[in-house]
Amino acid sequence: MIDLRSDTVTRPTPGMREAMATAEVGDDVYGEDPTVAALEAEVAARFGHEAALFAPSGSMANQIALQLHVPPGDELLCDADAHVVTYEIGAAAAYAGISSRTWPAVGAEIDPDVVAAMVRPDGYFAVPTRAIAVEQTHNRGGGGVIPLSTLRRLREVADGHGLALHCDGARIWHAHVADGVPLAEYGGLFDTLSVCLSKGLGAPVGSLVVGSAEKIARARFLRKRMGGGMRQVGILAAAGRYALAHHVERLAEDHAKAARLAEAVAPHGVLATAVRTNIVPLDLTKHPLDAPALAAAARAEGLLISVLGPRTARLVTHLDVTDAQVDRAADTLATILRA
Ligand SMILES: Cc1ncc(COP(=O)(O)O)c(C=O)c1O
Repeated sequence: MIDLRSDTVTRPTPGMREAMATAEVGDDVYGEDPTVAALEAEVAARFGHEAALFAPSGSMANQIALQLHVPPGDELLCDADAHVVTYEIGAAAAYAGISSRTWPAVGAEIDPDVVAAMVRPDGYFAVPTRAIAVEQTHNRGGGGVIPLSTLRRLREVADGHGLALHCDGARIWHAHVADGVPLAEYGGLFDTLSVCLSKGLGAPVGSLVVGSAEKIARARFLRKRMGGGMRQVGILAAAGRYALAHHVERLAEDHAKAARLAEAVAPHGVLATAVRTNIVPLDLTKHPLDAPALAAAARAEGLLISVLGPRTARLVTHLDVTDAQVDRAADTLATILRA
């Protein structure tokens, strides 16, 4: 099977497993795991922030960050397709009493004026807005990259209204490689970021919340409250350190593979948006096949793809898919879509 459902399906490489097996560990709830401490320091430094906190998942890292910025009852602004309001199962409301209000799903094509117009000021007569969250790259937005100029304007909107700006940076590494923007430049624009080691970077588990020392001290408390304090977790942090050392620059290969797949499907009128990174979004509204039918036909030919809706599907390239497999997948899809 060629698995293009997600970049989360990768398995640790032999080098990564070796790093995990030989990791120095301690009880991280006591703050005694040197490999976790090293990972947190390294990630904080890469983003030009004071501190970082290792968390078991991107969802928990996002939710901790949102709790840092938005008190119960107050409001978060994000887009209607954001991971935090689509795939985190209502966590902001369920665990933290956070109200979420969304701008229409436009992926990475955000208009900062639209966001600014949504902000509600502090006061007793309306829900006060406390934070804005954006997603870089945008998952349901087909791996789109928010331009630096847009992020700078959003920073101005946040500053102008006294709001926090959070980045769901599960795939910020891909944006860094695609647009050549230094990670520290992204880091400087946000109060907090959540970044994942378990997506394109190929680690089995792990995300980090990045921010000021003060925010991360509070984040450590919130992580424990959510049941995310972990013990000899240097074994996983070692996988993350290995991924940072070996799997960031190579993301350009995944982007090239996605472009190759996009080229194969585009003539059939099903490419939803231009491909920038490792996600190929498919829009089947004008095609005779719907998304489940395309996925079933692909599966019968040994290819797994994700169905996101009745007429939307997704292909994702990653560490565990070879050039030859991408060629095979491209041929398979072109054959099915042509029929
Ligand atoms: C943009 C984005 N944010 C957050 C997450 C959450 O990560 P996790 O599955 O580790 O909770 C994902 C997962 O795919 C994602 O795509």
